[in-house]
Amino acid sequence: MRGLKDRVFIVAGGASGIGAATAARLTEEGAAVVIGDLSAEHARQAAARLAAGGARALGVGFDIVVEDSVRALIAAAVEHFGGLDGIHVNAADIDALQHDTDAETVPLEVFDRTLAVNLRGHLLCTRHALPELLRRGGGSLVYTSSGSAFMGEPQRLAYGISKSGLHGLLRHVASRWGKQGVRANAVAPGLVMTDAVRRSMDGDACAAVLGITRSPRLGEPRDIAAAVAFLMSDDGEWINGQVLSVDGGATMR
Ligand SMILES: NC(=O)c1ccc[n+]([C@@H]2O[C@H](COP(=O)([O-])OP(=O)(O)OC[C@H]3O[C@@H](n4cnc5c(N)ncnc54)[C@H](O)[C@@H]3O)[C@@H](O)[C@H]2O)c1
Repeated sequence: MRGLKDRVFIVAGGASGIGAATAARLTEEGAAVVIGDLSAEHARQAAARLAAGGARALGVGFDIVVEDSVRALIAAAVEHFGGLDGIHVNAADIDALQHDTDAETVPLEVFDRTLAVNLRGHLLCTRHALPELLRRGGGSLVYTSSGSAFMGEPQRLAYGISKSGLHGLLRHVASRWGKQGVRANAVAPGLVMTDAVRRSMDGDACAAVLGITRSPRLGEPRDIAAAVAFLMSDDGEWINGQVLSVDGGATMR
């Protein structure tokens, strides 16, 4: 892909699953990557695996709900690799998701935590990445949304709201800073078979999702990584303010 080599990216929530695959793909394209994650140990391990293959990768512990921590993550990219060209904001609180029910019953602490990580944290990443992107003459923000942002589901209320909120955030950022070379987009994955999903989801539930998927298989982390890399690259330079569904056709809009 054009324009990824020697660029600098952060994957915020990049130690596992989709984020780790995105970090790997970006380094395969010749970029330097900072992997930020709540688990500093896992972030460092993920970066070390990439570095062992010759990539420029740094692992940093950070908490997306803590502003100073987000600020330090952005600063680490600038200090280590000399600037910032893009950020993939990917973190989500998967534990809260297990208790995320409906409007009548969802515990308010689950609702608040979900929005703090999945939406407010994305605002913090945006706010602190923007000055660095503008210093480079522009850059790309890619958020990980979900099909649940527009499907309407009887459960997972907070999750769906948090992901819908990202669409408002990215449209705002594209409108406010687009003329200055900033692009903001999201990928909306369908069911992606990360290690965690493989461990936790039973076969019947996977088969049900496959049933509504037009493609013959469920998603793999590399499918989402490829879409994020494209949106980060110069091949995606005229794509702004969009939500790209990467779900084997499970949703059609
Ligand atoms: N796997 C799927 O089927 C699927 C489908 C649709 C959307 N998504 C979205 O894709 C993204 C990645 O999901 P995944 O399936 O790879 O799960 P994952 O749990 O492997 O990845 C999420 C990462 O975010 C990190 N994280 C959580 N809270 C954090 C915090 N407070 N600060 C910093 N990092 C934090 C986790 O440690 C983890 O590494 C999420 O936004 C999720 O909502 C996943």
